[in-house]
Amino acid sequence: MSSNSTIRSICCIGAGYVGGPTMAVIADRCPDVKVTVVDINQDRIAAWNHPDLSKLPVYEPGLDAVVERARGRNLFFSTAVEETIASADMVFISVNTPTKTRGLGAGQASDLRWVEACARTVAKEATGHTIVVEKSTLPVRTAEAVKAILGSVDSSSEQKTFSVLSNPEFLAEGTAIRDLANPDRVLIGGENAEAIDALAEIYQQWVPEEKILRTNLWSSELSKLTANAFLAQRISSINSVAALCEATGADVREVAKAIGTDSRIGPKFLNAGPGFGGSCFQKDILNLVYLCRHFGLPDVADYWESVVLLNTWQQHRIARLVVQKLFGTVTGKRLAILGFAFKADTNDTREAPAIRICKDLLEEGAQLAIHDPKVDPEQISRDLNLIASQAPEEDAGPTRGALSGEATWWPSPDVASAIRGADAVLILTEWQQYRELDWTTLAPLMRKPAWVFDARGVVDPKQVESGGLNVWRVGEGDA
Ligand code: NAD
Ligand code: UGA
Repeated sequence: MSSNSTIRSICCIGAGYVGGPTMAVIADRCPDVKVTVVDINQDRIAAWNHPDLSKLPVYEPGLDAVVERARGRNLFFSTAVEETIASADMVFISVNTPTKTRGLGAGQASDLRWVEACARTVAKEATGHTIVVEKSTLPVRTAEAVKAILGSVDSSSEQKTFSVLSNPEFLAEGTAIRDLANPDRVLIGGENAEAIDALAEIYQQWVPEEKILRTNLWSSELSKLTANAFLAQRISSINSVAALCEATGADVREVAKAIGTDSRIGPKFLNAGPGFGGSCFQKDILNLVYLCRHFGLPDVADYWESVVLLNTWQQHRIARLVVQKLFGTVTGKRLAILGFAFKADTNDTREAPAIRICKDLLEEGAQLAIHDPKVDPEQISRDLNLIASQAPEEDAGPTRGALSGEATWWPSPDVASAIRGADAVLILTEWQQYRELDWTTLAPLMRKPAWVFDARGVVDPKQVESGGLNVWRVGEGDA
């Protein structure tokens, strides 16, 4: 950071998947700026401060090295929310904005209670001039509410002023450090040119000026929702085509390649799969749907809602076809689930397709041996609302639960133990290790006739078939 920089001290409220990695990279790139990430969740802060870097609360390739360089130098994690705000020139709000579960707009609108709480705390605790940056993804025009709260503070006794900026985050989990280090763009929306410049100066330490886009507040807020809606729409589009490929003998990978080479379409985000997961796509589209209805645009709302509906359909469709291929019943059958995270290279399971697919199969009475290299089994229990049972003894034969049709699951420490005795394997996350499985050694472990359901298109079907297994790959029809 150049010594004439305006910003000396940053506070980020929210030490989650965005706040933690984003601030770690800012601290790394701006060694003269003190960056403190605060959170009300003491366990999370303790994990960020853990001397063993493998215990950080967020798993992201490359994050440990960045934290190691900056932590204790100019990067700090703390629960002292008020004091940190008071001494900051710039406060990022990076808290959760999930879909409301009750009340007005339940199921669609964003729950802004945490954002509002932050705005109120900042209004109370800030001193001097403070730039407040919306980093969370927010409904368009939220900055109006944030400004109103900050403006309501009684500043007669002390000099307090605020500028509000929107600076949405576009990182994807699993590639967060790469995305932050080399973003396609940095978007800054605001009204006050000096405040925009102060934030731009931070990013200019490593991001080329032409990649820093300046807009008004509302364009910035809306661009974030729109970017996620467009990305998710591509996935629903290719998944809809995958179903048609399966019905017609086409192959979705060939179709994706054929259309993706058109430079107007482009090759990215055309991987058919078990539907999109993650904390944001569904939430942000539903928020867009809510806003469209609110602003009297029901047809636009329906258009975007169909992206989410197709996604849910795809997940149920996969569970349904597993049941159909296994002679119409999975009751008491052992199924190996490979991958529970919503995508590879993250330990995050929020809205993971595996949750809906596993729940559907449990509903049918299946017994699931679940393997994921990074997800904590306790998280899986929470996601499935079902406590894990003991893994059955190897070669124990049908368990009592299986014979009674009782649904259950257990965590498997490795792929082979998940697959042993199973009637089917479902690959739901594209972890690299699942691409490299040796099916000639795995196939004999399964009960025949056995299936591999590859919802990510990661296996070599010929290799699987050579082991005597049946294969279903998403988007692959019988030619
Ligand atoms: P998260 O749930 O992982 O983290 C949010 C943190 O904020 C939690 O640790 C919570 O304890 C803390 N918090 C909430 N209220 C607080 C308060 N009043 N004071 C102090 N701490 C408080 O969420 P996340 O995934 O980091 O997402 C944060 C925002 O960023 C969301 O709006 C999300 O849509 C957006 N976003 C997320 C991603 C992503 O990949 N996860 C990417 C881009 C944007
Ligand atoms: C997504 C966006 O890519 C980020 O730009 C955005 O900042 C972020 O949401 C957010 O706002 O939270 P993320 O959800 O972390 O990032 O991961 P993605 O790589 O976008 O994957 C989302 C889901 O789509 C995953 O379940 C993934 O498996 C699935 N996907 C992705 C496909 O099924 N096919 C594809 O071709 C790409």
